[in-house]
Amino acid sequence: METAGAALDPRHWDPRDPAFRHDPIPWYRVLREQAPVHHHPEVGYVVSRHADVDHVLRDERFGVATPPAWREAFASVAPPSVRMLSENLLLFVDPPQHTRVRALVSQAFTPRRVEGLRPRLTEMVDTMLGDLASAPSFDIVHDIAEPFPIMAITELLAVPDSDRDQLRDWTLALTAFDDIPIDVAALPAAGRAADEFLGYAAALVEHRRRDPGDDLISALIAAEADGETLTNDELMAMIILLLIAGHETTMSLISTAVLLLLDRPDVAAEVRDDPNVAPGVVEETLRFMGPLQVASGGGRWPHEVVELCGVDVAPGAMVRLLLGSANRDPSVFPDPDRFDLHRNNSRHVAFGKGLHFCVGAALGRLEGQVVIPAVMRRFPKLAFVDPTPTWRSSFVTRQLMELPVTTG
Ligand code: HEM
Repeated sequence: METAGAALDPRHWDPRDPAFRHDPIPWYRVLREQAPVHHHPEVGYVVSRHADVDHVLRDERFGVATPPAWREAFASVAPPSVRMLSENLLLFVDPPQHTRVRALVSQAFTPRRVEGLRPRLTEMVDTMLGDLASAPSFDIVHDIAEPFPIMAITELLAVPDSDRDQLRDWTLALTAFDDIPIDVAALPAAGRAADEFLGYAAALVEHRRRDPGDDLISALIAAEADGETLTNDELMAMIILLLIAGHETTMSLISTAVLLLLDRPDVAAEVRDDPNVAPGVVEETLRFMGPLQVASGGGRWPHEVVELCGVDVAPGAMVRLLLGSANRDPSVFPDPDRFDLHRNNSRHVAFGKGLHFCVGAALGRLEGQVVIPAVMRRFPKLAFVDPTPTWRSSFVTRQLMELPVTTG
């Protein structure tokens, strides 16, 4: 469906505009068509076409580590523990550190370990949905989409169920300041959360060093390549990143998928009746309205002058990749604004590409494939309380604040 996009002018694009944040799709189209590498004074170079986004994600002339001037500016406002994390998380480090840490993490976080979780996740979903079975109404976000990813990751890390609420609160505090500009008011709470979270992760690592088990933390400790292992700081940062990166993203995937299905009864019926479309509903939700609309919060930074669509981008300039726009590019996805379970989605960039391709993609996919069809099957008469969704106001993430439903 063509929208009022023709009336929009890229020069007036504002990533803080509530209308853009509510529905970015018309703006994505205008940016792709008229200004595929668009410079915005606060956001840097914004890249919106699939070919260019895909290219920059794989082009090693771009890094993710923030240049010194930006790092110093952040250091002047951020508490030390937040700064330490932002400089050590895998998502914000370049080779050679990235190559070494990623190789070690890949040894521990294997597809086999993830697939091994399937029976346990299925059981958890059954219990969770069973607890809701007699409720006439509930909230998809608060009762299903938010708790389930935390359950999955705590299972993988083998941390006690009783820690889940605390872990969720820390991860939320650590992402609350990520906006344009950075929400400085949220930084002290993020600092307290980071201090406590680091203390918690340190205790876990110490415990698993003494008493290893068959869990991901023990596997991360045991991982070794060319005589190298992860340092204590790298281990703690990794545990925290797994919790942060795996929480809000998967929560968004699950709740957005249910929203899209409630709006499309035919597709919902197909998901309910045919178990083979479970991967299709996950991939199409990721493409159509993926959890991360923009790659890496810190952006990409060229190490040398790089030409993109006729624009010379120089070192020190920030490049932001609009994953959500690339996934609606009609040159790769015909009729991109149609939600189609059966389209070829092998080229979507919802998990990124290249060096920083999502470590948890297999887990996010598995969680979605287990829980989304289960919700549709358990509650065949599920309906909106209010069909107008409330999205979190964000440039980077696509996240429902709530999704109240009735069970009929
Ligand atoms: C549907 C759910 C998810 C989505 C859409 C998603 C999306 C992404 C994207 C787009 C990136 C790359 C960002 C960039 O290149 O700038 C990424 C990286 C990452 N993701 Fe995910 N993610 C999801 C789930 C998870 C889960 C469940 C985990 C772990 C438990 C996880 C852990 C990570 C980590 C550690 C990285 C950094 C990889 C690196 O820098 O090498 N993600 N994710």
